[in-house]
Amino acid sequence: MERKYPNLCNPIKIGNVWFRNRMFSAPMGGTDITADGCIGRGSTAFYELRAKGGAGAVTVSECMVHPETDGSHAYHLDLKVPGSLASFTYTADAIRRHGAIPSLELSHSGQFAGTYMTDKDKKNTLCQYGVSTSVRADGMEIRELTKDQIQEIVAAYGEVAGNAKRAGFEMLMIHGGHGWLVNQFLSPYFNHRTDEYGGSLENRVRFAKEVIASVRNAVGIGFPIEFRMSGSELFEGGYTLEDGIEIAKQIEDSIDLLHVSAGTYQRGFGITHPSMFEEHGRNVYLAAEIKKHVKVPVAAIGGLNDPAQMEEIIASGQADVVEMARALLADHQLPDKIMRNEEDKIIKCLRCFTCMAERAVTSTRRCTVNPLIGRELDGMEIIPARKKKKVLIAGAGPGGLQAAITAARRGHQVIVCEKTDGPGGILKSEQAIPFKHEMYELGNTLERMAKEEGVEIRYGTEVDKLYAERETPDALIIACGSSPVIPPIEGIDQDQVIMVNQYYLKKDQVSDTVVVLGGGLAGCECAIHLAQEGRTVHLVEMRSELAPDANVRHRPLLLEKISDYVTVHTGLKGIKVTEDGILCEDSDGRESLVPGKTVICAAGQRANRKAVDELRDSAPYVAVIGDCVKPSTITTAVYQGHHAALDI
Ligand SMILES: Cc1cc2nc3c(=O)[nH]c(=O)nc-3n(C[C@H](O)[C@H](O)[C@H](O)COP(=O)(O)O)c2cc1C
Repeated sequence: MERKYPNLCNPIKIGNVWFRNRMFSAPMGGTDITADGCIGRGSTAFYELRAKGGAGAVTVSECMVHPETDGSHAYHLDLKVPGSLASFTYTADAIRRHGAIPSLELSHSGQFAGTYMTDKDKKNTLCQYGVSTSVRADGMEIRELTKDQIQEIVAAYGEVAGNAKRAGFEMLMIHGGHGWLVNQFLSPYFNHRTDEYGGSLENRVRFAKEVIASVRNAVGIGFPIEFRMSGSELFEGGYTLEDGIEIAKQIEDSIDLLHVSAGTYQRGFGITHPSMFEEHGRNVYLAAEIKKHVKVPVAAIGGLNDPAQMEEIIASGQADVVEMARALLADHQLPDKIMRNEEDKIIKCLRCFTCMAERAVTSTRRCTVNPLIGRELDGMEIIPARKKKKVLIAGAGPGGLQAAITAARRGHQVIVCEKTDGPGGILKSEQAIPFKHEMYELGNTLERMAKEEGVEIRYGTEVDKLYAERETPDALIIACGSSPVIPPIEGIDQDQVIMVNQYYLKKDQVSDTVVVLGGGLAGCECAIHLAQEGRTVHLVEMRSELAPDANVRHRPLLLEKISDYVTVHTGLKGIKVTEDGILCEDSDGRESLVPGKTVICAAGQRANRKAVDELRDSAPYVAVIGDCVKPSTITTAVYQGHHAALDI
């Protein structure tokens, strides 16, 4: 078989170990971690799914090496707890049995540890240890690690590395980037020591070198050690790419894979985890530049999900391996699909940050486009139904199509009816906004997958009561979405007003000055896009804040972009559309004109309840999913679609 992406599919030997391909699963912190730091069954199943999906290596994330001074959240692993070895062994086994190499990330958060976790009995009067004395932004006092403590931590790396090897891990990743302890030593911003661990770059690298030596001593020659570093800290005062190159040169002889990421968690979250506003692979240049100066194999990471781009990264010698985190949440089978030349079936990550936000807020793991994530123990395989049924689905948005795929996989006869002429529902409107293009693509990918599962799709067909009853389905899934709210404002029906969902059709009519009415997610993102295209954009929102429902990881990045590009008017209500903009009034009744020759109306969505009411008695089994229940997220639609189909 001729592989379309021969470089990605090419095995690689790192240390003494062969990896089946060059697509590695980067560390992603778990949720099912026991209170004493063991890997729960749910987490094991999560990592196993990555291995089943074809990744060359799967890195289990964040094993603390020195719990006495570390632990930034409740999901750190701890290999020093008596009896913990079993859980690590089961996890390594679960990864290995599908042909992937199990790796474990060894980490220490340093000054950014959650002090409440490290100083439980307050013996140290709630202080945190870091490379140098300072006061953290939250007021926490940071004490400089003593040399004895440094030696204790260095030794702890070795001890944990030895245990990890015994548990069956075949590679170890030392986390030396993203602002955590090893990075704090490397950084002139954090490191103000005057001893042999501070000052010159050589001194700042000393701790990293000692850590690597300690791990090497425990695991032996040939056992692959991957060192994760930020190629540059990418903030004023942090180390630069030139420093990154020097750091790499100083450690390359003692490691087997240099993993080049970027920035720090605390000062550039949307760069370290490139947000939807960033180019895919925006950090690859760091790996590529460093690779020119070292002989050790180099891995690149950051917003990668496109097979052609990843193939080119390796083919052109910018890196030897590509690593992905979110892309493998969205589609754990991504490597497998690339190996099989089925790249058109890859479900792309939307970079919406639901994954990171859900863990922070609800302690669950979730992915907008992959309903299996976080539910791996419920069963990763779709179990065929005992009796084949006829399933009619009204609506080919993401929820309807996901329902169709799942129902068809269970062996049912599935017909999807869609009143427009194409798939995606509301996602169709995302095609004109480049940073949301993957949302648009999702509709097309789901359509392709549904057709491959044998689903019949009838476009230009609206399901009404008569239609549904004539089809006599055993099950009806109503996924007929939502419609835009049109606020009762004088002049809202004029030609210069464009509904945000219609923007992609009327893009060419938008003038140079625009006022966006409605500061929810859709309004904010459209405003950013219009401004990025060079237009003058004003954003009017009745509430006092923008996009309050956006998730906790995406929202700060969204607001940052808004403040870069858009003039915001909160607390204003639009009362009249004029030729020159929108006349607004504030809570005291004061009027003002917000200028804009075009008005984009993004006042929210309303569930299409009428269709639901009409259809709800049209089959023995009826499920209502997605926006027609209540306008919500793609996540909700996809989950509800999948589960409604499982319930048939
Ligand atoms: C849900 C999630 C959890 C993560 N947890 C960790 C972690 O525990 N340790 C770590 O070094 N990086 C962690 N990361 C960062 C990723 O390893 C990766 O560096 C980052 O997401 C950029 O890669 P991507 O664009 O392919 O997602 C996490 C990322 C995500 C999305």
